[in-house]
Amino acid sequence: MEPNGKGPMLTRRQQLAGIAGGLVMGALPSRLDAAGDEPLKDLAAQKGVLFGTAISAGRSSPMADPGYGALVARECAVVVPENEMKVYVLGNDPQALNFGPADRIATFAQDHRMKLRGHTLLWNYGKYISPALAQMVEATGAEKWLRAYIAKVAGHFGDRIYSWDVINETIDPKTGEVRGTVFDKALGFDVFKIAYETAREHAPHAQRVYNDYMSWEVGNETHRAGVLRLLARFRKENVPVDALGIQSHLGNDGSHSRVQRAEWKRFLDEVVAMGYRLLITEFDINDREMPRDVARRDAQTAAVAKSYLDQMLAYPQLDQLLCWGLWDKHSWLNGFAPRADGLPQRPLPYDDELKPKPMRAAIADALRAAPVRKGIA
Ligand code: G3I
Repeated sequence: MEPNGKGPMLTRRQQLAGIAGGLVMGALPSRLDAAGDEPLKDLAAQKGVLFGTAISAGRSSPMADPGYGALVARECAVVVPENEMKVYVLGNDPQALNFGPADRIATFAQDHRMKLRGHTLLWNYGKYISPALAQMVEATGAEKWLRAYIAKVAGHFGDRIYSWDVINETIDPKTGEVRGTVFDKALGFDVFKIAYETAREHAPHAQRVYNDYMSWEVGNETHRAGVLRLLARFRKENVPVDALGIQSHLGNDGSHSRVQRAEWKRFLDEVVAMGYRLLITEFDINDREMPRDVARRDAQTAAVAKSYLDQMLAYPQLDQLLCWGLWDKHSWLNGFAPRADGLPQRPLPYDDELKPKPMRAAIADALRAAPVRKGIA
């Protein structure tokens, strides 16, 4: 039983005959029998929201797994590569980039008439800037390298990408300041001007997003304040940024308390008051602090999802909701944040066998309850 008291999203018969049986791509009906089983992309579209997921091009890709491919095609209006557009996959030399894996994802999106997001032109975080890249940037000159790289990547995809995470995670959550990478040490604030202006030049029709992981959770106060200062400076200095990407990697620390919701509202209100649109770019729920018992755990993730999405979807400026994967099987959290009891994490709307979980119902319920907006779609 779902936490909202409704029955399971798919009937037993549908599960056996359909997703769980690994249907070939495209073989799922666009709408299942019961009214409540509408694809998430359709529920979202009714409210002016694009629903989608991150996918990869490797062994866990929807191209390699027909059951997963069919599910992604049924549920999603948009996909974003989890890693394939990052510099460590594309390569450090702007004149010799490897677009193969990203192109496979672009083709999957095109074949299924899905939109494509881009992630990310500059992950301005030292941890993800290899020594070899730093060396090349210093040898070339930071401005020259950045302009050449963004021109090539944004230019390669052109209008196939409707929305780019131009810069990702540049604020240090501990200090609230810009992190201090090879780029901003050389260029200061100009790194932002150069990145967003070059993106505008080479992908003029794409939405330009600043993406970060400040969240509503306790302990994120400094991070939120730093992001607000950055967004304010973008406006002051006319940096062409359209939206704030709110990654939304959540956990369960009781953050959905009244106080915390009020803090989060204050943050979101300030962001939209500056004229930014909002999007959820990487939604999942880390269940490390939750019980072993699967039913209880799934009920908790569903409750966090509903509480969070209700608050977020109340903003008419929010028009995209992307999960960081659609099923638990290949979630990054199993590698990056394993549970102490050794059980696999269950952070996403579908389980390892592609069966819908209470979290899927929570997302559907939040979309049904959301007001209509004029979205990006
Ligand atoms: O592809 C190699 C494989 O060949 C090798 O055998 C294996 C051994 O470790 O590594 C594989 O690469 C890993 C890659 O994921 C693909 O699975 C990298 O080591 C690993 O670092 C990489 O992690 C990704 C991480 O970003 C760092 O790029 C995660 O999949 C991805 O989910 C995560 O995504 C980030 C967003 O981009 C930004 N926001 C936070 C989010 C979660 O950390």
